[in-house]
Amino acid sequence: MTAETSITRVWPTPSTGPLTDPELAALYGRAARPHLRVNFVASADGAVALAGYSAGLSGEPDKRVFGLLRMLCDGLVVAAGTLRHEGYRAVRLDAARRAWRREHGLAEYPTLVVVSGSLDLNPAQAAFADAPVRPLVLTRAGAEPPPGLTEVADLVRCGEDRVDLAAGLAELHRRGLGQLLCEGGPQLFGALTAADLVDELCLTVAPLLAGAGPDRITAGDGSPPRRLPLRHVLAAADGVLLLRYARDPGDARPAGSAPAA
Ligand SMILES: NC(=O)c1ccc[n+]([C@@H]2O[C@H](COP(=O)([O-])OP(=O)(O)OC[C@H]3O[C@@H](n4cnc5c(N)ncnc54)[C@H](OP(=O)(O)O)[C@@H]3O)[C@@H](O)[C@H]2O)c1
Repeated sequence: MTAETSITRVWPTPSTGPLTDPELAALYGRAARPHLRVNFVASADGAVALAGYSAGLSGEPDKRVFGLLRMLCDGLVVAAGTLRHEGYRAVRLDAARRAWRREHGLAEYPTLVVVSGSLDLNPAQAAFADAPVRPLVLTRAGAEPPPGLTEVADLVRCGEDRVDLAAGLAELHRRGLGQLLCEGGPQLFGALTAADLVDELCLTVAPLLAGAGPDRITAGDGSPPRRLPLRHVLAAADGVLLLRYARDPGDARPAGSAPAA
């Protein structure tokens, strides 16, 4: 294993030293009921991307938590815009994380869930073509799939003119995907916020100023402000902050031990 940038908890109770992966996994945990966690990385001045991509904002501490959050979820929800733009590949977890999932009674991999109203999706994209678990696509009535899409993914139709996100999430829960992790992007996050469906936001703050230009982590039509209390502040040795906001302090419970890698 390569040397990791240490991560410590600074609030509410400072940790006595660097957090291990099992300790990090326990801090994020799995909720006792159906739950939607959203994960984003932003610059200190609020940019969602550098030169159009999130990669420039992310570093090793963010990637470490990003991977642990994937390990903890049942369904990995991503908007079609981000899937297309970021060239999403198939969801992979290393052997230790797959073993952790088996030990905790979970499927070996989370199910990828793509949100798309248009179904302008490429079935040959690795996220579909190489998926270890058949992905789901949340879409609306009447959207026409491109050739080959239904060979690599199952369509879940909810909503007439647009994707009804509340109905879509309820259907995912009904299918056993109770713990959902949404990796964006901004339009989907804005719509989930407007529909009051966000239980938790995990936000990595990169210590840099992106300057004017990039969008925020949320986009679309405005919605009323919604209080989301801060639950923990982690700091990495390179100055990255890992913030967790959640509606309910009991929304996360210890997840047991996690693998080291
Ligand atoms: N910093 C980060 O952590 C982070 C994370 C993710 C993305 N990003 C960045 O965000 C940018 C991409 O954002 P984006 O503007 O394309 O937004 P997006 O939210 O990723 O994607 C928008 C598309 O997703 C589908 N969609 C989203 N919400 C929907 C809804 N409520 N109902 C139906 N379909 C919905 C639609 O797809 P169809 O067109 O197929 O209908 C829509 O065109 C990229 O620059 C990416 O790098 C950053």
